[in-house]
Amino acid sequence: MSSPSSHISAFDYVVFGGTGDLAMRKLLPALFHRELDGQLPPEGRVIAAARGAMSDDAYRALVWEALSRHVGDRLTDDAWTAFARRLSYAQVDARMDARSGEGWEALGATLDQRPDHVRVFYLATAPDLFGPISQRLHDLGAITPRSRVVLEKPLGHDLASARRINDEVGRVFTESQIFRIDHYLGKETVQNLLALRFANALFEPLWSSAWIDHVQITVAETVGVENRGGYYDGSGALRDMVQNHLLQLLCLVAMAPPATLDRDAVRDEKLKILRALAPIENADVETLTVRGQYRAGAIDGQPVPGYLSEPLVAADSATETFVALKTEIRDWRWAGVPFYLRSGKRLGAKVSEIVIAFKPIPHSIFPVGGGAVAPNRLVVRLQPDEHIRLHLMTKEPGPGGMRLREAALNLSFAETFKSRFPDAYERLLMDVVRGNPTLFMRRDEVEAAWSWAEPILNAWARDPRRPHPYTAGTWGPSAAIALIERDGRTWIDDHDRPGG
Ligand code: BG6
Repeated sequence: MSSPSSHISAFDYVVFGGTGDLAMRKLLPALFHRELDGQLPPEGRVIAAARGAMSDDAYRALVWEALSRHVGDRLTDDAWTAFARRLSYAQVDARMDARSGEGWEALGATLDQRPDHVRVFYLATAPDLFGPISQRLHDLGAITPRSRVVLEKPLGHDLASARRINDEVGRVFTESQIFRIDHYLGKETVQNLLALRFANALFEPLWSSAWIDHVQITVAETVGVENRGGYYDGSGALRDMVQNHLLQLLCLVAMAPPATLDRDAVRDEKLKILRALAPIENADVETLTVRGQYRAGAIDGQPVPGYLSEPLVAADSATETFVALKTEIRDWRWAGVPFYLRSGKRLGAKVSEIVIAFKPIPHSIFPVGGGAVAPNRLVVRLQPDEHIRLHLMTKEPGPGGMRLREAALNLSFAETFKSRFPDAYERLLMDVVRGNPTLFMRRDEVEAAWSWAEPILNAWARDPRRPHPYTAGTWGPSAAIALIERDGRTWIDDHDRPGG
């Protein structure tokens, strides 16, 4: 993997959907932070492409407004002046039936001014435009050997649509030019999983069914669907979060040590895990998955509406806003170790956490009544309050004999590292310019993830019952608790514990 300070070539970043929510909330702020950190080459340009008519100055005003909301007091006059001169706007229409080619010609002419630049085409649009935009760029002669294309998620809606998009984009870009983004892979703490597992000798000997009882992965949000009801209602939590973010986390937890950090070494190992996931099909869907949908409740003491009252959501929608499921990896290392996954909107807290629950000790030498010996747990908190915490049993201080108590070794990132935590997109956007796809998904990974998710989606689509309701601000439907308690285990909410 390249180091963050490695050289960034002169680039043209062309952001399709350049006036959209993702561009304004994440992409432009990320590029601006790189500007502030002196990482952008002087010749680097950012060209927003979108359908509406807009002057360069009007676009700059829009970006300034977005930065003032999203980068806080880092938005200084000097940095803004330097950044604003990189920005321009191109009016293009990527729809197949769009007649005017003028905007495309103008975009082509702008790119031709700098034939030596690395060209990044960032497609922050609906996925059905990925193919048409790629084709337009090809027809324009805009794709050079130094070009790359970034595909935002969702990559399709199911396996067939993902394949079709991959085929369409693959007709004009080579696989090594295609960067399929999963922003979870750019999160500092997610990359830290690689460091934790492979830069320490301690864990690997214990990292298997011999010592690990089960694994829990939770990605909980307090937000609802915000202004994305139109997209979300056709998607749901399994497609929006599990098929990509949670499965990627599961892969990083479970994969065998890759031989190197090279692009394909890491992705080959992740792919083996995706292909070894136990399929959840037919009758198993009923016992191994739970889908929920939030109804009105309260978040931080404020009343919030139920999912069915959200804008652009169908009044009788059966889309799930919560998923809990149990899966297994069928290989020598993991056979018999359940992986419990859950993710949802409007839950009790925003928290992403991985819990590795170790097996109990085989035999206790401690007196009964001296405190139970709880199994060890390694908790990797991805966000917020990022930390790695190892729960151990210790002797409680005091002369009263051997009384045991659980305590934690706590590595808090904020306390240990004083530097700013960059947003995931900062790292990933620069990796694209560097041509480093290690933290991006390869075609076979995306398709393997869809192959696994699809039978669950199909079974739900056939099932006339509605998702289990849960009150906003709680931890999901009671069926999700029953899912794990049936196995004699409980969801471990580290954040609810003292010091959590
Ligand atoms: C996105 C999903 O991929 O991830 C959103 O589409 C979700 O629905 C978001 O809110 C969560 O990302 P983060 O970085 O806030 O955990």
